[in-house]
Amino acid sequence: MEAEGIYLRPPDEKDLEGHWYSWLNDMAVTKYQNKGIFPNTREKQREYYNSVMNSKNDVIFAIVEKKGDRHIGSVGLHKIDWVHRSAELGILVGEKEFWGKGYGKEAWRLITDYGFNVLNLHRIYALVMEGNASSAKCAEGNGFRKEGEIRDVFYKNGKYHKVLYFNALREDFKNK
Ligand SMILES: CC(C)(COP(=O)(O)OP(=O)(O)OC[C@H]1O[C@@H](n2cnc3c(N)ncnc32)[C@H](O)[C@@H]1OP(=O)(O)O)[C@@H](O)C(=O)NCCC(=O)NCCS
Repeated sequence: MEAEGIYLRPPDEKDLEGHWYSWLNDMAVTKYQNKGIFPNTREKQREYYNSVMNSKNDVIFAIVEKKGDRHIGSVGLHKIDWVHRSAELGILVGEKEFWGKGYGKEAWRLITDYGFNVLNLHRIYALVMEGNASSAKCAEGNGFRKEGEIRDVFYKNGKYHKVLYFNALREDFKNK
């Protein structure tokens, strides 16, 4: 799946030899996520990779920057519910030098398009921690609506933080 600056492809074994695991050890990358709490290793990343690739309720893709053909992040749909046809969107651009170039928003669009038009989902949601302005903009720019705020979801940096609940139905995405 291709956009202007990036494309999505299946993750592969070779990605495990690169920086993938180390993104989760970067506190700037995980600042707004329920990640980066315990140290990550290549071995743990391999376990995660194997579990997701064998899961019937998760799909992940590698985000690759087109110009340098570089693996810069990952994006996926998780907790896929095949009855109610919903899933949670997760995204991480791990190489910080690629932030702010529109790649996160493009990846968000591609995975949403895949969710609605390939997996035939009805609803995709994302939990965005307060303060994560670029993530909220990725959501809004792709037809997601903020439908609520949930208090004290994440305990990060010595305090609890609320989470903004973004939700999109297929028609919200189509009509954005
Ligand atoms: C959140 C994340 C995916 C955004 O990706 P990105 O490539 O940096 O974002 P983009 O360049 O596509 O920008 C998306 C929007 O945010 C805006 N933006 C970018 N950086 C911003 C910043 N530091 N502050 C405010 N807005 C910002 C852009 O202008 C753009 O807005 P627009 O749609 O109005 O043009 C990426 O920063 C990331 O992976 N962060 C770490 C992990 C994380 O927080 N994941 C999200 C969990 S829900």
